[in-house]
Amino acid sequence: MSQQFDRELLRSLFARALHFRGGRNGMNFSGRTLITLFYEASTRTRLSFERAMLLLGGNCIGTENAKEFSSAVKGESIEDTARVISEYGDVIVLRHTDDYAAAKMAQYASIPVINAGCGRIGQHPTQALTDLFTIEDHRGTINGVNIAVVGDLKNGRTVRSLVYLLGKYEGVKVTFVSPEELRVESDIPEYLTRHGVAYRETDSLAEVIETVDVVYTTRVQRERIEGLEEEKFAYLQRAYRIDAPLAHRMREDAIIMHPLPRNDELDQSVDALPQARYFEQARNGLYIRMALLEYVLAA
Ligand code: NCD
Repeated sequence: MSQQFDRELLRSLFARALHFRGGRNGMNFSGRTLITLFYEASTRTRLSFERAMLLLGGNCIGTENAKEFSSAVKGESIEDTARVISEYGDVIVLRHTDDYAAAKMAQYASIPVINAGCGRIGQHPTQALTDLFTIEDHRGTINGVNIAVVGDLKNGRTVRSLVYLLGKYEGVKVTFVSPEELRVESDIPEYLTRHGVAYRETDSLAEVIETVDVVYTTRVQRERIEGLEEEKFAYLQRAYRIDAPLAHRMREDAIIMHPLPRNDELDQSVDALPQARYFEQARNGLYIRMALLEYVLAA
């Protein structure tokens, strides 16, 4: 989880990510194996982890549809799966529907377990590392960043992990922008208060769009909202839709981020603007995951 990273570790991971992005090699993990176990859909996270391992000289095995294809269908517990697959590789990358699955698996596995996104109120720490790295790469520092986090803040785990990491820096200002029914869960403001981070909540994006350094927008997590009607979904998605005219109101040096995948909340008309950084952010995910795998496998 995000809380496990301290500033020093973040600094060294980001330095390694920059190194890898510059096309330079890292340690060679030939003969070492990454196991991907994905109980939920993924494109970027799984493929970037696999590519990262291949670039480090290692190899990958796994299942992209563990819910159907793993022994989970036969009732195997996460504990047993952890014990068994620890014998088949050197590091496990897990995505799961259960909020605490990665922590549970780490308890029983004899090899490192990386959380690749778990549950609704769980975390997605490697996405947050990618997000933070992208902000630092753009501004030179995370300290003092003024960020608006927008959209479905209740059901998105990337927001939780990102905010938990932001809490480790100085002078950060967070504004949560969401419809009333998608506001952040209480652990997030509580965490920020404990860490002395200034935050506020609003339902108006217009209020902050012109002043912030970063707009971090998110998808409505439709699959995690029970009984969400089509009409309501369309309304929520469009409530904070960012399109080119709105993006033009941002400062020239501000950036727009999104963990992706996007739906209607982020219009394609934004893609060509200099503020659009979400594809670069996704690309950074590869280098961050290389840095993280190197750190974990070298230990
Ligand atoms: C996110 C996730 O899985 O939580 N995807 C990702 O890894 N970038 C975001 C999402 O699904 O909306």
